[in-house]
Amino acid sequence: MNTFLAGYLDPVKFDELLKNYLDSVEIPDSLVMPMNDALIGVGKRLRPALCYIGAEISGADPKRADFCAAAIECVHCYSLVHDDLECMDDDAFRHGKPSIHSKYGEAVAVLCGDALLNLAFEILIGGCGDKASVKAALVIARKAGVSGMIGGQADDVSGRADRLDTLKEMYRKKTGELLAAALMSGAAAGGADDETLSRLEIYAHSAGIAYQFRDDVLDVTSTSQQLGKDIGSDSDNDKVTAVTLLGIDGAEAACKEYFARALDAIAPLGKRAEALSKLVSYLQGRTF
Ligand code: IPE
Ligand code: IPE
Ligand code: MG
Ligand code: MG
Ligand code: MG
Repeated sequence: MNTFLAGYLDPVKFDELLKNYLDSVEIPDSLVMPMNDALIGVGKRLRPALCYIGAEISGADPKRADFCAAAIECVHCYSLVHDDLECMDDDAFRHGKPSIHSKYGEAVAVLCGDALLNLAFEILIGGCGDKASVKAALVIARKAGVSGMIGGQADDVSGRADRLDTLKEMYRKKTGELLAAALMSGAAAGGADDETLSRLEIYAHSAGIAYQFRDDVLDVTSTSQQLGKDIGSDSDNDKVTAVTLLGIDGAEAACKEYFARALDAIAPLGKRAEALSKLVSYLQGRTF
């Protein structure tokens, strides 16, 4: 794991937190391994790290954000299981391993994703003890839903995001909204004010667009070994991307521009948001 993210999240402890939640529900034998493969020991854990950064910005004990961090990673992991399905991006490889549907079949993968999403809501409702935690849970529910990530995925498969403005809007929803849910829920759980939450939202939306631009570039310039997922997936699916619209250099420049916008949004928060500036430096250089 990257050293910057590791400062906010110990991957072993975070796996333990997720395993405890998995152990709290009765899982049929056929879904035990798929859910485990999809959730435990995988990914950069960017969203939960954002959640803990949000808690830090609001001056709260990071433990207050545990339930949001776990729930958001369940949502993220379910979204990847479904995103890889044959009827979506048809990708056989994820996190350096066979994707869930290619190992366990399509029906199991659909149910595994459904189960992780429901588990996320059990975790969220179980974590609601006061007004601040209810606000945090609601942010995640809304931003993971049809007006957020699911809406962005729907715009993606509709094929209508075929110009730069519609592409950016689709990326804001499918990627930016979950990053915003992570950062804002952590901050909301710690009682952050609305002005701060709104700056964090703009930061996450801009960073999400930039993140997805970088994802488009990596899809054509990287290797599947490096990324741990299929490359060339976008062109195989005839996707319009930042690279098809702007070329590699243009997509890199647009990526830089949106990371700069993210930094502008949090500048008034000063030292409190220092971690978010460092995060941009890490994300700009990411190679997987
Ligand atoms: C992948 O997200 C999906 C996108 C929004 C591009 P990540 O790049 O954060 O995936 P993991 O969690 O590290 O696998
Ligand atoms: C996925 O975007 C965004 C989600 C909400 C899952 P992509 O389809 O570009 O992500 P990868 O490239 O498969 O990781
Ligand atoms: Mg996709
Ligand atoms: Mg995909
Ligand atoms: Mg991609």
